[in-house]
Amino acid sequence: MRVGTGLLKKAFVKSYGCQMNAYDATRMADVLGAEGYTATDTAEDADVVILNTCHIREKAADKVYSELGRLRVLKAARAEAGQETRIVVAGCVAQAEGAEILSRAPTVDVVVGPQNYHRLPDLLARSRTKRVVDTEFPVENKFDHLPTRRTLGVTAFLTVQEGCDKFCAFCVVPYTRGAEVSRSVAAIRAEAERLIAGGAREITLIGQNVNAYHGVGLDGGAATLPDLMRTIAALPGLLRLRYTTSHPNDMAPDLVAAHGDIPALMPFLHLPVQSGSDRVLKAMNRKHTADAYRALIAEVRAVRPDIALSSDFIVGFPGETEAEFAETMRLVAEIGFASAYSFKYSPRPGTPAAEWADAVPEDVKSARLQALQALLDEQRHAFNASFVGATVDVLVEKAGRHPGQVAGKTPHLLPVQFDAPTSTIGTVVPVRIVRAGSNSLFGEAVADAAAA
Ligand code: SAH
Ligand code: SF4
Ligand code: F3S
Repeated sequence: MRVGTGLLKKAFVKSYGCQMNAYDATRMADVLGAEGYTATDTAEDADVVILNTCHIREKAADKVYSELGRLRVLKAARAEAGQETRIVVAGCVAQAEGAEILSRAPTVDVVVGPQNYHRLPDLLARSRTKRVVDTEFPVENKFDHLPTRRTLGVTAFLTVQEGCDKFCAFCVVPYTRGAEVSRSVAAIRAEAERLIAGGAREITLIGQNVNAYHGVGLDGGAATLPDLMRTIAALPGLLRLRYTTSHPNDMAPDLVAAHGDIPALMPFLHLPVQSGSDRVLKAMNRKHTADAYRALIAEVRAVRPDIALSSDFIVGFPGETEAEFAETMRLVAEIGFASAYSFKYSPRPGTPAAEWADAVPEDVKSARLQALQALLDEQRHAFNASFVGATVDVLVEKAGRHPGQVAGKTPHLLPVQFDAPTSTIGTVVPVRIVRAGSNSLFGEAVADAAAA
């Protein structure tokens, strides 16, 4: 018998997908932390393994099942050594597949949706006698039941809004995350204060449609995202504020204006456009035109000329012609993005577009993606290179790749490595950029700001 087994329990959470999932993963660790679990970063020594899954890509479920195949072997090996392992599938595949996961993967003990993981301790206890599924959208709000945050760092995500009512024709999110719900300003402020007390200097307010935020304000009235941002930006100790992900139709004038008048709000905007063709945008149910997007970007640049722009693109949406794709290329060439995510369209079961017949052939999709990514890469490299020789403020987040180095980010969200003691972690250091690599900038701390 192993001495001490069962006394110190360990949990391993593996998270896929968007920032919302990354946030949920830290909160699941908090829930288990309150139950006496410590976090581990390998599945091999974990008593509880949680796969926090994403359903946005094709074959997402297949990948989860093959990962579960590996975990089945691990669970059996641990069982032979007298160690019990509970396997949990959480996140958007859990929400979409539900009980199907239990029948296809006998190794799984618990299936829990993104709105239900505050109940993990209870679900784990119940799964000792019977495997459980909890994917009903609950009447209570999980945020009211989560323990205070324990997982802390210099930068932190904070969920302020969840779910989506937009129903873009290609997207599973409205089905896996449910309807849009905003947290109150008071609840968000309390969580932000806790993060700052634990060392956070940068907070990113996140939501599937974060700029549709409409929560209860401190005065009991309705608060918009800029109202919320002003409250959070005013908290002592917080140096930087960001938000993601936004929909162009919710970029209200007060939000555009906020980019000019909230100093803590960093000059970076992720604003997915998906396509440069009005016909495709309409078919996608995005409800705006390419010119409306151009006009919006012009407004944001008018109040914040140095803003770095980022976006998401889908190529090969059903029926997309060569000329329509060329409009996407034209939009990208005109606007200029600092970074971007681009994807080949893939049909997601249950979404309207999945039923459409006029699929673009795979080789055409691949060629379009390659062309788009070549242009976006060129723009990204040019953006990164534009900082060489300049001095930028870097918020130091952690030790760097090599001894004596630290790593942090610029206001425009570019990673920087430079030599400085780890005592600079959590502070902003002016750094002169000497070289731009493909993923990071490299620089030198200016004067003696990083000395001692
Ligand atoms: N709420 C965010 C996006 C969430 S999903 C928004 O509205 O922008 C992240 C990105 O995945 C989307 O912007 C889209 O570009 C991509 N995506 C979603 N469904 C897709 C699909 N079926 N095929 C290809 N890409 C998809
Ligand atoms: Fe998906 Fe569209 Fe909602 Fe974004 S706005 S989460 S792409 S349905
Ligand atoms: Fe994926 Fe769910 Fe996020 S499907 S992108 S983890 S909302």
